[in-house]
Amino acid sequence: MSESRGLLKSHIVKKYWMAFTGLFLILFLTGHLAGNLQLFMTGYAGQLQFNEYAVFMTTNPAVKLLSYVTYLSIIFHAIDGILISIANKKARPVGYAYSKPEKNSIWSSRNMGVLGTIILVYIVVHMQNFWYVYKFGSTPYMQNEDGTAPLLQDGSAVADGIVENGRVLVNGTDMGPVMKDLHSIVVDGFSEPILVSFYVLAMIALGFHLVHGFSSAFQSLGLNHPKYNPLISKVGYAYAIVIPALFAIIPIYMYFM
Ligand code: HEM
Repeated sequence: MSESRGLLKSHIVKKYWMAFTGLFLILFLTGHLAGNLQLFMTGYAGQLQFNEYAVFMTTNPAVKLLSYVTYLSIIFHAIDGILISIANKKARPVGYAYSKPEKNSIWSSRNMGVLGTIILVYIVVHMQNFWYVYKFGSTPYMQNEDGTAPLLQDGSAVADGIVENGRVLVNGTDMGPVMKDLHSIVVDGFSEPILVSFYVLAMIALGFHLVHGFSSAFQSLGLNHPKYNPLISKVGYAYAIVIPALFAIIPIYMYFM
């Protein structure tokens, strides 16, 4: 009896952390999308703006701290999700194929583990494509509009500057780190139809994951009330459609433009 009470308690704690990290990741997604919408800007101005934004995102101490919280949340959410899926399977030894699912359990709520795994694979591939290349790969660097001088991270052009190991040098004097050209890496990435298709498919999985995850997170945290539940559910649906759709449109737009 006390063992099952203990198991139930640990299950509730797991659900609580799942919801907490999930809601944080929802906030992250909203901010990340807002930043990525700059990719719709065309020409040199758009390229410069996106690269200045990348400098801000990788050098601002508060943003860096938020990044670490994001990485931890992703790891925690994934591990917690695997543990909850295993516990649910054990509690229900007969697979869904043979049992009649509850009337109101929608498809996504029964496939959160599979959807989450697809999203995790997506995040690993995605971070290798852009984040890893930007931080550790050999990245092209920004120049002024006529291509005659490299740019420092604050956007100033250094006439006669040469770039070595990510630094701008003038006659051997180190002027500072060069502004990397993350925009070109994204443009190159989204010129590949296979990568564009992968992004679009992953965003469909993200949409289904969010349809259930959004309102379920409120429930797990006890933030539910018969009066507000229909509203939370409607906002959840809208979020789960609009945010992944906008994320998916970016690679499609960049491929065709
Ligand atoms: C069209 C869609 C997307 C584009 C163009 C995009 C672009 C990028 C770029 C350029 C970076 C590297 C930026 C940097 O290091 O500061 C990045 C980082 C990242 N992206 Fe995305 N992203 C997209 C969608 C997503 C989605 C849907 C997720 C999550 C499901 C995601 C999760 C992440 C994470 C966790 C990072 C690392 C963030 C950090 O270091 O703070 N991205 N993304």
